Amino acid sequence: MKKRKLGQSLEVSAIGFGCMGLNASYSTSVVSKDEGVRLIRAAVERGVTFFDTAEVYGPFINEEVVGEGLTPVRDRVVIATKFGWKIDATGQTVGLDSRPQHIRDVVEASLKRLRTDRVDLLYQHRVDPDVPIEDVAGAVKELIAEGKVKHFGMSEPGVQTLQRAHAVQPVTALQNEYSLWTREPEANGTIQACDELGIGFVPFSPLGRGFLAGAMSKDTKLREDDFRNAIPRFSPQAMEKNQALVDLLKRVGDEKGATPAQVALAWLLAQRPYIVPIPGTTKLHRLEENIGAVNVELSEADLREIKEAVSQIEIEGERYYPQQMALVGRDAAHRSTGA
Ligand SMILES: NC(=O)c1ccc[n+]([C@@H]2O[C@H](COP(=O)([O-])OP(=O)(O)OC[C@H]3O[C@@H](n4cnc5c(N)ncnc54)[C@H](OP(=O)(O)O)[C@@H]3O)[C@@H](O)[C@H]2O)c1
Repeated sequence: MKKRKLGQSLEVSAIGFGCMGLNASYSTSVVSKDEGVRLIRAAVERGVTFFDTAEVYGPFINEEVVGEGLTPVRDRVVIATKFGWKIDATGQTVGLDSRPQHIRDVVEASLKRLRTDRVDLLYQHRVDPDVPIEDVAGAVKELIAEGKVKHFGMSEPGVQTLQRAHAVQPVTALQNEYSLWTREPEANGTIQACDELGIGFVPFSPLGRGFLAGAMSKDTKLREDDFRNAIPRFSPQAMEKNQALVDLLKRVGDEKGATPAQVALAWLLAQRPYIVPIPGTTKLHRLEENIGAVNVELSEADLREIKEAVSQIEIEGERYYPQQMALVGRDAAHRSTGA
């Protein structure tokens, strides 16, 4: 598999594996622990070296599966995980918590579940507005000095908060939602900040949580507890309207002998050399299809055609429901001056 670099030095496969859906969020297709371990190992055999998880996925179980799956090849892979949530004794997420001591506690617990002595890339999952980002970056800097963490990442921060964090501890990767139907990173200065600061970009949900891959429609039945039921873009009306985007991906794919999922991923890869998408799946044949996107070349003419066609399509529905939308793109508190 081709390689890409995040930040100054973190080399990873050009397409990573987002492991969340193995155990969390998309209950319509979660798999057993053993199947998850098998799929992760199959990904390694096919050249994937970049695996994405988080404390909150499950919670906890996703890190356990990733840890078990990657133990035999630990030194050949990059493990990314995330902190930042307050999780109560029943496993419910009840708020944000990026206080430095909490970060330390979460990292110790994640290391145990991941069966390793270091996290290669540690992201703050969401900005905690109550904790100055300098304190968060400072805590991660200490963990890096201790060798427990190798690189610092952030997910969905406000641009100013990203810049402030980077000034304390260089940020290796930013993980935001980015795909043909979620273009905010282009519009809100995020990509430009990555260009300027030399920060890698890891698009999450690069297949639009499955929709852009073309296997969903207004008639798709999701399990009642599937997270997508709560997302406005997955209402039957929105799925019907947004099908125009899938039709475009199919049309471009047909010309190139590629699937819609591959075109969606190839489009991301073509945006910047430091972009590394992390599609998720519970199925081996789709994993193979997705990583095959590294071999799909989109020419300047293809990219122009896509750009023009997409500009005619108005995406229906937000990417999150309001409470989740309120958590993205936020800035952290400034340290009190005591005045
Ligand atoms: N930082 C954050 O806040 C955040 C938020 C969300 C996700 N993430 C990370 O990003 C990763 C990827 O995002 P995601 O899982 O939300 O969305 P995604 O990769 O855009 O899509 C995953 C969905 O697409 C389906 N799928 C995958 N490949 C397919 C193909 N070739 N054809 C048809 N359907 C296909 C999967 O179903 P099957 O399993 O049935 O194949 C699954 O339901 C996650 O695993 C997680 O690590 C991070």
